[in-house]
Parts: sequence; structure tokens; C-alpha cells
Amino acid sequence: MKYLHKQLLHCVVYGCTLLPVAAMAAGVEFPQETGGYKKSDLPGYKIASGLCLMCHSSQYASSQPPKSSPAYWNATIHKMKDVYKAPVTDEMIPAVVEYLSVEYGGQDRAAAHADYEKAMAKLKTPAEGDSVKK
Ligand code: HEC
Repeated sequence: MKYLHKQLLHCVVYGCTLLPVAAMAAGVEFPQETGGYKKSDLPGYKIASGLCLMCHSSQYASSQPPKSSPAYWNATIHKMKDVYKAPVTDEMIPAVVEYLSVEYGGQDRAAAHADYEKAMAKLKTPAEGDSVKK
């Protein structure tokens, strides 16, 4: 009986000291969109939803400065690719940049799309010397 009492005491003491810790942990609130990317009709949404959720939630994107430019997103995605080895191809990047710039960077849609077109045209232009006939 004495033993049981000791166990109970142990439980009360440690249970009580653990409670505030658990409450604190539960009190950490994440934004509602935790996990998924913001829905959008832009084609980059689907790419981001597949690719950018492989390693971390969209919170990384939503915690960036609210007026992040296409150049900023472009650099970020290149960093994901080059530094963290995200399996993103050059062809995917302009669409994801457009999507993030509009939905997370608050950029003008038309301007972001113009940037997308420019980046795609650049990708499609063969590097100089590629098609030189002799
Ligand atoms: C291969 C894993 C991987 C993939 C895929 C990936 N990331 Fe990341 N990302 C990371 C790591 C690792 C960090 C750095 C985490 C840290 O510093 O705590 C990071 C950080 C970030 C940050 C924080 C800012 C910064 O520059 O560190 C943003 C924004 C971000 N990622 C966006 C994206 C987007 C958008 C995509 C999709 C194109 C993506 N990530 C795909 C691994 C990945």
C-alpha cells in the first residue's frame, strides 16, 4: 500500500509538472493552411503542391516577406534545387515563380505572367551555337 501511494504521488508530482509543458506545446498555433499551398488556377499551384511539400510545409513560403518579388522567388527555388537537391527542373521553375509571386508575393498577375513568358522563351531559345550549320 505504501508503494502504491508512492506511485500515486510520483504520478501527481510528475503529471502536474508535465501538464504546463503539454499545454504550451498544444498552444503553439499554426496557420490554417498548414501543409498545403494556397489554391490557385495558376499552373504553378499544382507543381508547388507536389514538389514543394516534399520536404517542408507551405509555411516556409507564407513566412517570407509579403511583397517578395519574382526575382526573390526565383532565387529561393534555385536554392532549393542547388543546395537542398529538390528535384525541380528548369522548365518547372517559371510557373512556380509566377504562382508564388502572385499568391505569396502579392505581385501583379499580368506582370508575373509576363515574367513567366520571358523565362519560358529564354528556356526555349537554343543556346548560341547549338543550331549553327556548317
Ligand atoms: C529537397 C527538399 C526540399 C524541397 C523539395 C523544397 N525545399 Fe524549401 N527548404 C528546404 C530546406 C532544407 C530549407 C531550409 C530549412 C531551414 O533552414 O530550416 C528550405 C527552406 C525554404 C524556404 C525558407 C527560406 C529560405 O530561403 O531558406 C522557402 C521559402 C522554401 N524552402 C520554399 C520552397 C519552395 C517554394 C519549394 C518548391 C519549389 C521548396 N522549398 C522545395 C528543403 C526543400
